[in-house]
Amino acid sequence: MSETQSYTVVLEQLPLILVKSVQEVSVAASLHELEQLKAKYIGKSGEISLIMQQLRIVPVDQKKEFGAAVNKTKAQFEEAWIDKKDQLLEQELSVKLAAENIDVTLAGRGNPSGSLHPISLSLQRMLNIFKQLGFDVADGPEIETDYYNFLALNFPHNHPSRAMQDTFYTQNRNILRTHTSPLQIRFAETNQPPLKVIAPGRVYRIDMDATHSPMFHQLEGLWVDKNISLANLKGVLIEFLRRFFDNSSLQVRFRASFFPFTEPSAEIDIMSEEGKWLEVAGCGMVHPNVLSNMKINPEIYSGFAFGLGIDRFTMLRYGINDLRLMFENDMDFLTQFTGVK
Ligand code: PHE
Repeated sequence: MSETQSYTVVLEQLPLILVKSVQEVSVAASLHELEQLKAKYIGKSGEISLIMQQLRIVPVDQKKEFGAAVNKTKAQFEEAWIDKKDQLLEQELSVKLAAENIDVTLAGRGNPSGSLHPISLSLQRMLNIFKQLGFDVADGPEIETDYYNFLALNFPHNHPSRAMQDTFYTQNRNILRTHTSPLQIRFAETNQPPLKVIAPGRVYRIDMDATHSPMFHQLEGLWVDKNISLANLKGVLIEFLRRFFDNSSLQVRFRASFFPFTEPSAEIDIMSEEGKWLEVAGCGMVHPNVLSNMKINPEIYSGFAFGLGIDRFTMLRYGINDLRLMFENDMDFLTQFTGVK
């Protein structure tokens, strides 16, 4: 075949190649396939490109016509190719949009929020009430010396609560405070009367069953001023109890008792809904020896003190029947207090 013949033959192939390539483009299923077709037809050694390479054997006077014919085919191919690409891009976008579609009518997944521990809830309640009654709030160390926990509070040296079976001692004979009463002494050391303060905190005793935990919470109260009497003690505590339990006719009784640091001393009982007296706190007039240890003159000043079990109050307020529930961190138990006041 002469060169002239060969390029004419080649030229005749163009319409066939165009039909074939456009057909293939029209059925391309993906952008990847489409890219491959581009290489196949107009890439470096693509079918249309190879034809264009024949230009060098085309006689000079026909080069223009030949080139124009190939370029036209190439342009037609490209046009079909670009249309197809737009179409595929659009398809891809709508597939993506459909996949990422957010159904705003679907129910939410929920946003669980934590809740305050029932002990925190009732402590908060206590603090609010006592602040309204004019009390300051203080706090102090959980590891105490014998002096603050016992001696300054007028405990005799042989008092049973000093025994190893009741009190946690550290290796160097310090103790985990067995009550919040040491805060009475500590507060008096850094403040002048009138003292009107409450002090909540953790306390520790060697004891454990359904109503006792080796760590529990107390709230101490102290009011020292001139002319403070038992009447003040009763007034403040009855008011507090009625506000705490949201019951303005709550029955309260003061039962004579004994504490080394108060004289006279009493235990406070409240009447339960079932008609039973429940012990909720200890209290009394601050013992003159304790006032002296506070460097307060008992001839001029008097005061009362009380200590209540925060855990006990929490159980009564929320109807919790086992103290241990409050220290097990069981989620089913704790989440019941979400939103509770
Ligand atoms: N500290 C006593 C206790 O733990 C309670 C109490 C405090 C009693 C203040 C009287 C005055 O039992």
